[in-house]
Amino acid sequence: MQLLAKRDIVVGIDIGSTKVVALVGEIKSEEAVSVIGFGECTSSGLRKGNIVDIDNVAKAIEEAVAKAEQMSGTEIEYAYVGITGSNIASLNNKGVVAVASGDNEISERDVDRVIQASKVISIPPDRKIIHVLPREFIVDGYNGIMDPVGMAGSRLEVEAHIVTGASTTIQNLLKTVERSGIKVAQLVLSSLASSQAVLLPAEKELGAVLVDIGGGTTEIAIYDQGSLCFTSVLPMGGDYITSDIAVGLRTPIANAEQIKKEAGCVLSELVSEADTIEVCGVSGRDTRVVSKKELAKIIEPRAQEILQIVKREIQRSGYKGLLPGGVVLTGGTALLDGMVEMTGEVLELPVRAGVPDQIGGVSDIVKNTAYSTGVGLLLYGSNNESCQRSDEKDSSFNHMFDKVKHWFRDFF
Ligand SMILES: Nc1ncnc2c1ncn2[C@@H]1O[C@H](COP(=O)(O)OP(=O)(O)OP(=O)(O)O)[C@@H](O)[C@H]1O
Ligand SMILES: [Mg+2]
Repeated sequence: MQLLAKRDIVVGIDIGSTKVVALVGEIKSEEAVSVIGFGECTSSGLRKGNIVDIDNVAKAIEEAVAKAEQMSGTEIEYAYVGITGSNIASLNNKGVVAVASGDNEISERDVDRVIQASKVISIPPDRKIIHVLPREFIVDGYNGIMDPVGMAGSRLEVEAHIVTGASTTIQNLLKTVERSGIKVAQLVLSSLASSQAVLLPAEKELGAVLVDIGGGTTEIAIYDQGSLCFTSVLPMGGDYITSDIAVGLRTPIANAEQIKKEAGCVLSELVSEADTIEVCGVSGRDTRVVSKKELAKIIEPRAQEILQIVKREIQRSGYKGLLPGGVVLTGGTALLDGMVEMTGEVLELPVRAGVPDQIGGVSDIVKNTAYSTGVGLLLYGSNNESCQRSDEKDSSFNHMFDKVKHWFRDFF
């Protein structure tokens, strides 16, 4: 197997409630990464984004990774791994420091110190910080600064968005990935990754919300003035719709899933009573004819309910009315017929589907809303690697390893 130079390769693993996706990207330049490997495996070891069966998930990761390795002709060692679930919480906090140097020029060390200062919040002992994302820097009272290095000033402040997760959930995730033989380069909040793949810089600047409706979770990420300011993970998604269909039409879950994808629509008034489908019974023998309108009437209230809860979260964020960039809807459930229209009606905002189509390579496979997180992990990883590369021109694999070790220590 041909091994490409380690620093040119980046790997993302999205461990979703319904499937694990491994993507291998080749970093072409600081701005560009192209997909050279893709592997997917269904998984059933997660409930609402939390791992409940380590063995099942580790096997799914192994299988997805093996497929991605084969397609790309590379050996995967490290990966950027998505984290989600109801254990995730986030808050905004401020850090303040005095600029250290005599000539009042702000250095990278000052920026590191102020970011460290923003982490000083009372976090319960059973939680760990996953991300500290600077939203803006303030130098001697002047706000809106994105990169203060080199500026003159005596007082440096940062407004940061801090994402935390439950320690046990993080440890279980790390254990599961390691059991599959992969080392974690970094854990990345799934909605942060999806945002990188589908939100446009102009939308982030204006104020926009990403809504990723997957199988077991619905993730929300709100951007204002270019930075992430609110995140939330709801323990519900498209799997609830599938269960409702299974119960409502008295058919096995696997059938309900197929019917939903092939004939489902969330807006019952758009569906004709005359359009019908055949549904097999729970025993698998008898079949019945059901109108697509009846099917839509089962889907509609559940989709409404999920979106009403999303609406409440947007209200809770305090950014309602401040989102002229609208909603970008992604995740597998965004593919449900009529979902984009219903989202617009319920949230009373402009909505578009977020397809991760700004990436090159063998990427036609990944141009699907279900792969936004996977593609986003590649983009996040590639940005991170490029930053490290320019920070440490002399760096080597060992240096990268030191960084990973350092990052890991925070979690144990
Ligand atoms: N064509 C389709 N039409 C309707 N629903 C679909 C379609 N394709 C996928 N889905 C639904 O999307 C959901 C899976 O979405 P996705 O792949 O984004 O979830 P996941 O990442 O595995 O899970 P999560 O993000 O919740 O942990 C399932 O409920 C599935 O039924
Ligand atoms: Mg997902």
